[in-house]
Amino acid sequence: MEVLEAIKTRRSVRSFKRKPIPDEDAIKILEAARWAPSGGNRQPWTFIYVKDPQVLRMVKNCSPGFYGDAAAAIVIGVEGGAREISLLDVGFAAENICLAAHALGIGSCPIASFIKESIKRIVDAPEGWEPILIVSLGYPDKMPAPPPKKPLSEVVYLDTFGKRWEKLEGR
Ligand SMILES: Cc1cc2nc3c(=O)[nH]c(=O)nc-3n(C[C@H](O)[C@H](O)[C@H](O)COP(=O)(O)O)c2cc1C
Repeated sequence: MEVLEAIKTRRSVRSFKRKPIPDEDAIKILEAARWAPSGGNRQPWTFIYVKDPQVLRMVKNCSPGFYGDAAAAIVIGVEGGAREISLLDVGFAAENICLAAHALGIGSCPIASFIKESIKRIVDAPEGWEPILIVSLGYPDKMPAPPPKKPLSEVVYLDTFGKRWEKLEGR
């Protein structure tokens, strides 16, 4: 799938088929995460790939923002607390995960709504490691319709704040 098409057609999926993800595809997705950019190339992240149904159920039960029976989930966390730069790094890795999954026909949803302390306990996190984001994964049951996105003309200015770019009118 072409990158620009993948970016536009990726959706947050909250309804999944009961179908496991082949380990080889999961590894491709994790490989995409590993290649994400990070500040100073620090790569502060750890990715916990959760596929055991019992562990997955516990993760879901501690995550009010986790919808649907996902086949797996990736808990992304960092060493040394949630510094601003680490949050950015996790965001880049998460988008790589979502796009790689989409390219393989696998749906995903980023999930920030979870109980941190419970997730730390479930994944047996070491001291000083913080979960930042969870990404659920599974074959989409329903592909959601695209949600409204603000037009370019509303979110882009040319050269200085507030200066409209006439080429973007109506886009
Ligand atoms: C940082 C972040 C946190 C999110 N947390 C949740 C969440 O807890 N639960 C959820 O269902 N969706 C969550 N989402 C998904 C957004 O709701 C979704 O990206 C947005 O509605 C746009 O839809 P789209 O991803 O299909 O373009 C999150 C997305 C991001 C980027």
